[in-house]
Amino acid sequence: MQGKHVLLTGGTGGLGSGVTPVLLSQGVESITIPYVTQKEVDRLKDRLSMAEQSRLHFVETDLLDEQSVINLVNRMDRVDATIHLVGGFSMGKTHEYDYSQWRQDFDLNLNTTFLVCKHSLRRMLNQGYGRIVTIGSRGAVEPGPQLAAYCASKAGVVALTRSIAAETKGTNITANVVLPSVIDTPANRKAMGEENADQWVTPESLAQVIGFLASEAAKDLRGAVIPVYGSA
Ligand SMILES: NC(=O)c1ccc[n+]([C@@H]2O[C@H](COP(=O)([O-])OP(=O)(O)OC[C@H]3O[C@@H](n4cnc5c(N)ncnc54)[C@H](OP(=O)(O)O)[C@@H]3O)[C@@H](O)[C@H]2O)c1
Repeated sequence: MQGKHVLLTGGTGGLGSGVTPVLLSQGVESITIPYVTQKEVDRLKDRLSMAEQSRLHFVETDLLDEQSVINLVNRMDRVDATIHLVGGFSMGKTHEYDYSQWRQDFDLNLNTTFLVCKHSLRRMLNQGYGRIVTIGSRGAVEPGPQLAAYCASKAGVVALTRSIAAETKGTNITANVVLPSVIDTPANRKAMGEENADQWVTPESLAQVIGFLASEAAKDLRGAVIPVYGSA
């Protein structure tokens, strides 16, 4: 990852707070992080040294607005790797589920992935180099009850990523998707208690897998759907 310019969406979130320091430790030149909430940016900065912070570029961006995504990608010197962590979870029985919530779930999980990948790919094809890493979920391949919107939208992320991998065959651009089960984040500990937390996968552990997929070394991995479940 030495010298690489990385676009990291969701870099201030529960998983992102583990991924950002690992990428910095791997020697990336810069990380561009689109954000919504300033408080989350400040929280992440508090965990990093001034030298580390100087390699981060925070850009207030709504990833559901295509022009904003274009502006975000265009402001980068290069887009060597795009790691798209943005996504969200919601539950409800299908026969009671609001159509508006269903559409929001697809917006957050799948449509942001499309926009971010579309405009990153444009830069990567011009450069002749790129690594795309997306985040699905275990539910994409093992759908459960009351999770139809989440599982279906994450299954879409898997399909989109594999299509990109097929389209970029014969180039030095790759696309792969990681499937976490439960991640050991403060939000999950608060929501589910800490009893089973030792079985969950930590953000730092997921970051090692993501960092490898985003690196030059992973040039021959394309279209992989990688379960990272810990002991869950
Ligand atoms: N947590 C788990 O157990 C788990 C399990 C399986 C898969 N996953 C997947 O892993 C990924 C990361 O999860 P997480 O727990 O880290 O989630 P999180 O803590 O909720 O973080 C989500 C991040 O996305 C950003 N974001 C949301 N909407 C955005 C938008 N429209 N434009 C720009 N940024 C936006 C948020 O920014 P702000 O904070 O500024 O709003 C936040 O940084 C997600 O794709 C999730 O589905 C998580």
